[in-house]
Amino acid sequence: MSIQPVVKVTALQQGYGQKIVLSDIDLSLNRGQILALIGPSGAGKTTLIRSIMGMIRPQSGQVLVFNQPVPDRLLLARIGFMAQTDALYESLTGAENLTFFAKMQGVKQTQMTEQLRYAAHVVDLQSALDQSVRTYSGGMKRRLSLAIALISKPPLLILDEPTIGIDPELRRKIWHELHRLASDQGVAIILTTHVMADAEEADVLMMIRNGNAIAQGTPDQLKANYHTDSIEAVFLAAGRQQDAR
Ligand SMILES: Nc1ncnc2c1ncn2[C@@H]1O[C@H](COP(=O)(O)OP(=O)(O)OP(=O)(O)O)[C@@H](O)[C@H]1O
Ligand SMILES: [Mg+2]
Repeated sequence: MSIQPVVKVTALQQGYGQKIVLSDIDLSLNRGQILALIGPSGAGKTTLIRSIMGMIRPQSGQVLVFNQPVPDRLLLARIGFMAQTDALYESLTGAENLTFFAKMQGVKQTQMTEQLRYAAHVVDLQSALDQSVRTYSGGMKRRLSLAIALISKPPLLILDEPTIGIDPELRRKIWHELHRLASDQGVAIILTTHVMADAEEADVLMMIRNGNAIAQGTPDQLKANYHTDSIEAVFLAAGRQQDAR
């Protein structure tokens, strides 16, 4: 039996109006795999994420999620999504936000308390759950957004800069949980980051620059290909190589 990828992007070209933002992107993500998208600001990472979510239609090429072309409303219940910009109800409490999004994602009433506790625990937000989100710091809002992505225990997580505003200790805890979800439950995870230490945690990396995937592989493969011992050096070398072309 062949294994179907969770996400399959083929020859994707994407843009806004006349402007082409992504050219010829191919990627395939399997169950239990963690993919990190890295690249300079404006490279097209969020555009790729929005394409995978079906929020923008491909100019050409194809995006399949669980073997379905996007957009597909039913797919959304299977994706835990964290946008780059928090979309939270400021006048509601953290717990109310979690409950609202959990219901939208189809979490059953009988599971609600347990899953709310789980999601809040992963991001260390238990003590602030009864506060209105208006009173949250920037980092607390990011953490609540991450908790919302996790609350329905979806088989696919798509996280746009999940570690922004997260302190080092909590970052370790979150990575521990992401690895656990991937290895124990087969959750597939796509995330974007500017933090090289996050890139090192991923199973596979895709470097996007000027809308092209300029390097793709496991962190170790990439380091070997570029004869260096850090992802940061790979990133810089791949960029120089693209400029020289
Ligand atoms: N709605 C939009 N309309 C027009 N252009 C856009 C739109 N959204 C993004 N862009 C442009 O598309 C390009 C890629 O943007 P994108 O947000 O995908 O980059 P990114 O890699 O996520 O950057 P960052 O690391 O800063 O989040 C940029 O040139 C940006 O100006
Ligand atoms: Mg972005």
